[in-house]
Amino acid sequence: MINLKIISGTDRPNSNSLRVSEYVQEKYRQEGVATDIIDLQDFPIEQVAGGKYGEELPEIDDFVEQAVVADGLVVVCPEYNGGYPGILKLFIDYLPFPNSLDKKPIALIGEANGAFGAMRAVEQLQQVFGYRNAHIFPERVFISRVNENFDDEEGIRDEFQQQLLEAQINGFPGFVRSLQEDKSLVSDG
Ligand SMILES: Cc1cc2nc3c(=O)[nH]c(=O)nc-3n(C[C@H](O)[C@H](O)[C@H](O)COP(=O)(O)O)c2cc1C
Repeated sequence: MINLKIISGTDRPNSNSLRVSEYVQEKYRQEGVATDIIDLQDFPIEQVAGGKYGEELPEIDDFVEQAVVADGLVVVCPEYNGGYPGILKLFIDYLPFPNSLDKKPIALIGEANGAFGAMRAVEQLQQVFGYRNAHIFPERVFISRVNENFDDEEGIRDEFQQQLLEAQINGFPGFVRSLQEDKSLVSDG
């Protein structure tokens, strides 16, 4: 049984990222894959005010540990000012370096009001996760015009984008398992 975590990539209340994360979680459940959501609204931000890098931060450690122990991550990311949200970078910056993302399988879903569905934000994330030696699942999803285009029960109204989302959900668990079969492709950390 693989352990997948879905990261809802913002702390904005009532976010579309959380709506999409919950929909994706239900689709994985239907595929027989259990997941948990890491909701960045719960990131204990007050503990890191003032830049506490390298200090002992039990609440932060517990929070980020959910991602550290996961076999794979699905990141649902909105676009904020042509990039990904600051809280998501803060979360990544408190993940232990270097092992926590080393060879970690990661699937990426962007969502935005704009026409490109957070493509810029997702590509910036790819750069960061690439730097951290993650295995990025090639099938990315971009949900454009999310407010009109996404329904909590039915998913994405645009048929092609929905197909891409379903293909990602169908394919990602196999990607994670196939990497696990080859010890050289998983982190020993
Ligand atoms: C601070 C902020 C900046 C935004 N910047 C962009 C942007 O650059 N491009 C875009 O298409 N949408 C932008 N939006 C719209 C969001 O991408 C859209 O509302 C998205 O659904 C927000 O995700 P969330 O509900 O998960 O926070 C921005 C929204 C916020 C709150």
